[in-house]
Amino acid sequence: MTQYRDILDRLARGREVSQEELAELVTLSGEPRVLDYARGLAREVRQEWYGHKVYLRGLVEISSHCSGGCYYCGLRAENRSLERYSLSEEQIMEACREGYALGLRSFVLQGGQMMDLEERIANLVVALKSAMPDAAVTLSLGEQRSSTYEAWRKAGADRYLLRHETASAEHYAQLHPARMSFAERLACLEELHRLGYQRGAGFMVGTPGQTNEMLAHEVEFLKDLSPEMVGIGPFIPQKDTPLGGMARGDVATTLMMLSLVRAALPKALMPATTALATTAGNGTLLGVLSGANVVMPNITPRQYRGSYAIYDGKKSSGTESAEGIERLAEELHSIGYEATMTRGDHPDFPDSEAKR
Ligand code: 5AD
Repeated sequence: MTQYRDILDRLARGREVSQEELAELVTLSGEPRVLDYARGLAREVRQEWYGHKVYLRGLVEISSHCSGGCYYCGLRAENRSLERYSLSEEQIMEACREGYALGLRSFVLQGGQMMDLEERIANLVVALKSAMPDAAVTLSLGEQRSSTYEAWRKAGADRYLLRHETASAEHYAQLHPARMSFAERLACLEELHRLGYQRGAGFMVGTPGQTNEMLAHEVEFLKDLSPEMVGIGPFIPQKDTPLGGMARGDVATTLMMLSLVRAALPKALMPATTALATTAGNGTLLGVLSGANVVMPNITPRQYRGSYAIYDGKKSSGTESAEGIERLAEELHSIGYEATMTRGDHPDFPDSEAKR
């Protein structure tokens, strides 16, 4: 218990920290003193690269159709209770144009994984990039063929989000059907890197069967993988899924993981996730205070937001939405941070404005 400062200091300085020590920190998430110390360090480390800036990204949930079978997710193909939708190119363009008018210069197009998207998405990215050349486009459409990732990159996509979900192959197999594999997920992440995307990985905290040792391993895994972005959020049960009856992930543990990953990856762009905001009333601010430096307001046309039901109770209004951007900026300001709507590239990428 008294060792926690030493372990955290070493982590933040890029020195050797053992898996046992990291697991010990995860176990101490419930201790306010430990969590506070981790958080303070995470803020210091983040500050070096990003000052007090928090980058806003406009999130468009473009389609809820999915061929995946993830046991935790309400969009899984096997869920017949969900009303599915798919936005037209014009609807997506309009949502981004509105976001652009508000000042946003970074858009995330997220949707279920489908095999027939290549041409439509390529055309959409070309249209977006020619209408808004100074905006960054991030895609998040699951596992795809290499040739599809390549076509989208050529069309102008800058970044791709594909969470690894867990760094344990065994746990991955507990959370997904046999048609999905950890090896395939890693191969996709590798391919995205090769194609020059800024890529986002990430994991859930509190999935059924996850241990503190597994969470400790996340830190080491992410250090090795070194993705430009990392999304971390608590597991939240969705009633029409196989894991619908399980307990949700713990907020303090999620915040501890944010701080540990921030300490290990100083330059990463890390969102205060919607899952965190859904689980804790002030989750977005807690996330930022724990090392996050991105928030993704939802700019999906309002009538579709209820249908993107990856988990129950998902927040899509208030400071999570376009309407709430001004309020979000005020709330961030009140804790000493500044909402920023520029592209917000990773410091190692050419368009970056992050300073050293
Ligand atoms: N609880 C929390 N996060 C979830 N995701 C999917 N389902 C859930 C859930 N029930 C996350 C996954 C996925 C991202 C889009 O949302 O990590 O990669």
